[in-house]
Amino acid sequence: MQHDIDEIRQGLITAVNSSQSPRDVLKSPALKDLYSVIGTLEASERATYGKAVNEVKVAIEAAVAARENELADAAVEPIDITAPWDLNATQPELMPSETGSQHPLTKELDVIVDIFTRMGFEAIESRQIDDDYHMFSSLNFPENHPARDGYDTFRTEEGWIPPAHTSTMQHRILKAGRAKLEAGGQIAAVSYGRVFRNEDVDATHEHTFYQCEGVFVSRDATLGQMLGSLRSFFEVYYGQKLKIKTQPAYFPFVEPGLEFAIEKPAAIGGKPGEWLEMLGCGMIHPNVLGEAGIDPTVYRGFAWGGGVERLVMLKYGIEDLRHFESGKLQFLRKFA
Ligand code: PHE
Repeated sequence: MQHDIDEIRQGLITAVNSSQSPRDVLKSPALKDLYSVIGTLEASERATYGKAVNEVKVAIEAAVAARENELADAAVEPIDITAPWDLNATQPELMPSETGSQHPLTKELDVIVDIFTRMGFEAIESRQIDDDYHMFSSLNFPENHPARDGYDTFRTEEGWIPPAHTSTMQHRILKAGRAKLEAGGQIAAVSYGRVFRNEDVDATHEHTFYQCEGVFVSRDATLGQMLGSLRSFFEVYYGQKLKIKTQPAYFPFVEPGLEFAIEKPAAIGGKPGEWLEMLGCGMIHPNVLGEAGIDPTVYRGFAWGGGVERLVMLKYGIEDLRHFESGKLQFLRKFA
């Protein structure tokens, strides 16, 4: 009888190891038959036999688990380590260049940051991994507040956050700049870098994009100074006079909060009265200043932040946001 059991066990394990749905083997009649034998045995034999059958079941279950892992591993697509071009291509536009070139966003960020540094802003690259405190708490998002959901934030299993906006740099900029304020100066900084949102991707939405953010604090900062600075920036960037307008918006870290729009320039097909929303902005909330150790009864500040791709798309008439992250040489070459 022991011999039969061994044979059946071996047969079942072989079945598991070659099955695409190994769990089905647990329902095999051969296994059921082993159990049904128990009732037909002498009482003295039952215990030993029952134990042997149970061991078979445990062994099969272990084999099923191992096989399931193996199948799951095989289902993961292997990483494509080949070059992103066809080595045998003969059309020059599909072949790699000798020297490579800067990505259009890198180039445009240089232009953007250069305009702001000439206006007196210090430029700081933003982080690509951050924490809940800098993403939310330091920015006056109350615990469990629904405004947190507006940011479609990714999180790692350990709770780290790939930032959903460059505002994650605000608290650091304010804290680092406190000494300047106390010495009678002001804080003027832009931070720029990659941000990440759990968004469905289409022609105007990406999960990975760039933002540029400004922070200014002094004893007498005003909304008017902010709007003037933004208008100057956009006029230099697009090389022409622009009309601007704002409308109220809610961001927990500013009060009042605004959306800032420019009139679409005629040079790129804009009709009078066609407005494009470019960024969010406002006066820095007293709680955000206070959290960084800056007395909101003495100092005031403004901040703004918005997507970089939008600016660039408008400047060059790029119709699909997805081109930027695509790595497609035909697109990249146009900006080389
Ligand atoms: N961080 C905001 C966003 O990404 C924009 C913003 C920045 C608004 C600074 C106000 C002040 O939506």
